[in-house]
Amino acid sequence: MKEKLKQLLAEVDAYEVTSAEALEAFKRKFTNKKGIINGLFEEFRALPKELKRELGQPLNKLKLRATERLKEFQQAVQGVERKAGQPHDLYLPGDPYVAGARHPLSIVLNRIVSIFERIGYRVYEGPEIEDDWHNFTALNFPPNHPARDMQDTFFVSREPDFVLRTHTSPVQIRAMEQEKPPLRVLAPGRVYRNEAISARTHCFFHQVEGLVVDEGISFADMKQGLLYFAKEMFGDKVEIRLRPSYFPFTEISAEMDVSCRICDGAGCNVCKYTGWVEIMGCGMVDPNLFINCGIDPEIYSGYAFGMGVERIAQVLYRVPDLRLYSQNDVRFLKQFEKL
Ligand code: PHE
Repeated sequence: MKEKLKQLLAEVDAYEVTSAEALEAFKRKFTNKKGIINGLFEEFRALPKELKRELGQPLNKLKLRATERLKEFQQAVQGVERKAGQPHDLYLPGDPYVAGARHPLSIVLNRIVSIFERIGYRVYEGPEIEDDWHNFTALNFPPNHPARDMQDTFFVSREPDFVLRTHTSPVQIRAMEQEKPPLRVLAPGRVYRNEAISARTHCFFHQVEGLVVDEGISFADMKQGLLYFAKEMFGDKVEIRLRPSYFPFTEISAEMDVSCRICDGAGCNVCKYTGWVEIMGCGMVDPNLFINCGIDPEIYSGYAFGMGVERIAQVLYRVPDLRLYSQNDVRFLKQFEKL
């Protein structure tokens, strides 16, 4: 028996358990009621005293060791099962793929574009790094005229003739340089101004420029076209209002307000309690622009407008802080898809 105990102890020590089945086998062989160890204890009881004295200790040692190992194995098998719950298990469903959302400015921009495409406008694009000619000079800004400062221009360092475009109006020039009238052009894009970043101002934002050139285009055409846009964008009940203004590239010039749809005229912080929200500048194309682009101002006339996309989004969605648009927080961005 002494030899047998020694051998069993070695066997228990060397046992390896890596699965629930192996654990059961270990229990069956050693530690169960009908296992070897219990059997040995029964044999032990029948032994004469001297042998008991000799074998008691190694027998207890075997029992103790087997119980220790059983615990060890149980923990290991549980660990394996826990591990199976980790992503290593290829049979488990994967982590859900969190899809992004369309950006509110893209939603608004796409709507603006589709409203104008329906009445024959074509989308035109120009570069964001623009030369002085397109951003200023051809748009009738005289050299050193303070209007150039009005726009808080970012100049490209060491290339003072290049700027980050301060508005989308340079695309008017590009379109008229490249194509002959009649023209119906829409130019959406990002523009830059050297402004401190705050809830109400940002160093970049988005505009959509419009340009119509043909024979006999009048201010009344512009007003009607912009009323069509306002109704498609904000609903049939919206009203528009044109206020006299000044831009070097339009003559006459105006700013267009729409009735505030957030408060319906009752007064809120978006319309600053006036009932009106300014959404764009507009006017009749200054004849000097036609001359700069080789178009005969005696034959053609036209109108242009430039609107702020963030501003329109604010009227639609009441976004309280411009910075939210560029922080890419999905919780913010997700709110607009269904609107
Ligand atoms: N470019 C002007 C601005 O950024 C807007 C405008 C465009 C005004 C076209 C008149 C005509 O403020």
